Amino acid sequence: MNKTTTAIILILSLFFSCTTAKNTTQPSIVINPYQYSGQKKIVAENGAVVSAHPLASKVGVEILKMGGNAIDAAIATQLALAVVYPNAGNLGGGGFTVARLSNGELISIDYREKAPGLSTRDMYVDADGTARTDKSQDGHLASGVPGSVAGIFAALQYAKLTFSKLIQPAIDLAEKGFVITQREANSLNGLQAELKKFNTVMPVFVKDQWKGGDTLIQSDLSNTLKRIRDKGAAGFYQGETARLIVEEMKKGAGIISYEDLKNYKALPRIPHSFNYKDYKIVGMPMPSSGGLLLHQMMKMIEGRNIAAMGFHSVQAVQLMTEVERRAYADRAEYMGDADFYKVPVAKLGSDAYLKERMLSYNPEKATPSTDIKPGIITGQESEETTHFSVIDKEGNAVSITTTLNNSYGSKTVVGGAGFFLNDEMDDFSIKPGVPNMFGAVGGEANAIAAGKRMLSSMAPTIVLKDNKPFIVIGTPGGTTIPTQVFQTLVNMLEFNMSTEDAVYKPRFHHQWLPDELRIEKNFPQPVQDAMQKMGYTIKERGSFGRTEVIKILPNGKFEAVADNRGDDSAEGF
Ligand code: GLY
Repeated sequence: MNKTTTAIILILSLFFSCTTAKNTTQPSIVINPYQYSGQKKIVAENGAVVSAHPLASKVGVEILKMGGNAIDAAIATQLALAVVYPNAGNLGGGGFTVARLSNGELISIDYREKAPGLSTRDMYVDADGTARTDKSQDGHLASGVPGSVAGIFAALQYAKLTFSKLIQPAIDLAEKGFVITQREANSLNGLQAELKKFNTVMPVFVKDQWKGGDTLIQSDLSNTLKRIRDKGAAGFYQGETARLIVEEMKKGAGIISYEDLKNYKALPRIPHSFNYKDYKIVGMPMPSSGGLLLHQMMKMIEGRNIAAMGFHSVQAVQLMTEVERRAYADRAEYMGDADFYKVPVAKLGSDAYLKERMLSYNPEKATPSTDIKPGIITGQESEETTHFSVIDKEGNAVSITTTLNNSYGSKTVVGGAGFFLNDEMDDFSIKPGVPNMFGAVGGEANAIAAGKRMLSSMAPTIVLKDNKPFIVIGTPGGTTIPTQVFQTLVNMLEFNMSTEDAVYKPRFHHQWLPDELRIEKNFPQPVQDAMQKMGYTIKERGSFGRTEVIKILPNGKFEAVADNRGDDSAEGF
């Protein structure tokens, strides 16, 4: 690096540090967004943040150092991810927060996107009956009404610092820029054709060739963040930002209106909790299937001594596969936004029902999905969401998964506002039996209706032991989210694996339809061979998600592990 570059870095780092440290005698934020690295594992005494991006994790930890609690850190991390991780971090998407507060209270916040007021059940079905997944997955009509900003303000009541302190790092990162990694450059390069196709105003992400080390400055996004800083949620859902969103909709035949934006509300929900052996597992209720699926899968293995079978033994993998198949069949039939459809949650999670579900289980061979429920077989993988886990020494633990759905959502950036809109409408069942981008099918429970929230698979989760936080976990990965959380928890709780091994070892996934066992690269060949002989169709695919885990060690320290499938980073102090 030459002297001029070094001088510029120092000046900009100083600026970053000063603007965030205003009005506080606490240590200031010192992050160099032009030269940074991440860590895959740390052990910390005071607090930890693990997220998809080193800069976002660092922002969270600096907020903890300033005297913020885990909720402050989570808000600042989420806002930073909206800048430094545009493929999934977002203002234009939605998500879920699960938290255990220092007073022992368990909370969850639902800021899932909603179908706009003009949505209709068959809005993606042509007159001849063709399901238009092209329209539910890309471009203006694919977007639900964004919930992320409302979700952040719903969490603010549990925070200690002022909002302006929490949002300032994100503003600085957008305004002054940050250096992108090679992985991010590759991702942006792969996006160029779609950006040109789905945007009416060419966003800053359009460039002939991105390289690792390039600086990404997002001025429009920085202005949007400043409006949110100055006006709160109204800085997004009303006024100039709302105007820009509605203008963008008009240009691309989208349907989100001023009314949709103004009326959007994040909702407090009662977390979905269940006991597994000595642990209490706390997850997200509907409209995410994540908590209930995890519940069903964990309870279907609980009495079967899986520990004795051993990690990646044929017996354990086959049992878990069959459990996954049965849970996902229920997902397709029964799960959706419980404010619109009566989801039989208690029945689906009851011991008697789950025992009955396993009556057809045969440890010698695959149960064909057609024997469990009829359906069609298809599905193309494509998924991007982001998870982060945060903990502080006061006893607050926060687990957040947030998403635009596909990578970069609808690929449409709101002209003049600088953020991507989601393509979450594809998470509805756009036509009964037609698979969404994850190959998941659904019916009445998850049919489109104006104002309804589309079914999610996100599974931000907290495991309590003796009623205190023990594991904070979650991951992106579309429909693979619940199975990844399931497997990582089984690795930790049953196979007694180190946290790194539990996260890094190859994963597998079955979701009832398509009737195939999807595996990551390096999944043990002998297990594949044995499973094939038992009647399983095995399909290797790209990596599954990016799981971020914090485990509380017996000495009270926080062990944070970031997934090695991406640039993810664990930070703490
Ligand atoms: N968009 C992925 C999910 O919510 O499951």
